[in-house]
Amino acid sequence: MKQDNREYTDKKLSYHLNDLNLISPLDSEIPLFEPKIKLGILASGNGSNFEYIIKSIQNKQLNAEISILIVNNPNCLAIKKAIKYKIPYVIINHRDCDSRVEHDMLVMKKLEELSVELVVMAGWMRIVGKEIINMYKNRLINIHPSILPSFKGIDAIQQAIDHRVTITGCTVHYVQKEVDSGSIIIQAAVPIKKQDTKDSLKKRIQKMEHIILPLAIATVAKDIRTNFKDKK
Ligand code: GAR
Repeated sequence: MKQDNREYTDKKLSYHLNDLNLISPLDSEIPLFEPKIKLGILASGNGSNFEYIIKSIQNKQLNAEISILIVNNPNCLAIKKAIKYKIPYVIINHRDCDSRVEHDMLVMKKLEELSVELVVMAGWMRIVGKEIINMYKNRLINIHPSILPSFKGIDAIQQAIDHRVTITGCTVHYVQKEVDSGSIIIQAAVPIKKQDTKDSLKKRIQKMEHIILPLAIATVAKDIRTNFKDKK
C-alpha cells in the first residue's frame, strides 16, 4: 500500500492522506469581487508566480488585470513571460539609482501613474521602504517560501533544510516595515522528504505558491472592494 494514498475510514470520515488540508484558510471557492482589480506585480526572478497570476486571470478565477510588471533586474526571466502574455512591463534597475529611496520612488511613481490598486511582490528580492508601505497600506502583499514566522529573510528553503524541520511551506502576507512580518493572509504546508534536495523541495513549495498566491490576491481584492479594514 502506498503510504501517501492510505485511506482512513470511519462512520463520518473517508479521505485520502493526499486530500488532507495543506492550505489554510481554504474556502471552497475563490473569493469573488467586482469590479475588476488593477494589479501591479513586482518581480526579480523567474516569474513563475507572475505566470500563475496571469493564468488565474485567463481562466476567470481572478477578476483582475495586470496593469504593469515591474522588475528590478534587467536579466530576469519574468520579462520573457510578460512578452509572451503581452503584459506591459518596465525595468527599474536599482543599480541605476543612488539610493533605495530613489528606487522606491520610481517604482511608486509608476504604480500611481497606472492607478494600481493592489501590489503583489511575486519573487521581489528587495526590501521596500516605508514610502511604498504607507502608500499601499493593506494593498501590498508578498509571497515567501516558508511557513512564517519561521525562516524569514533570504534562502528560506535552505534555512528549513538546515533546521531539519519536517514540514515547511509558503506564506502570503501583508508587507510591513519588518521583513516578512506582516499579517498572514494564507499559508500552505509542504512536507520535507528525506531524499529532498533544495531544488526538489523548492519545486513542491512553488507548486503550492502557484495555488495560494491567486487565492490571496482574491482575498485581499475582495477586502479592498468591501470593507477596507486597518491591518498591519
Ligand atoms: C518564490 O519562491 C518566492 O517565494 C520567493 O522567490 C521565488 C520567486 O519565484 N520569494 C522570496 O524568497 C522573497 N523573500 P518566481 O520568480 O518563479 O515566482
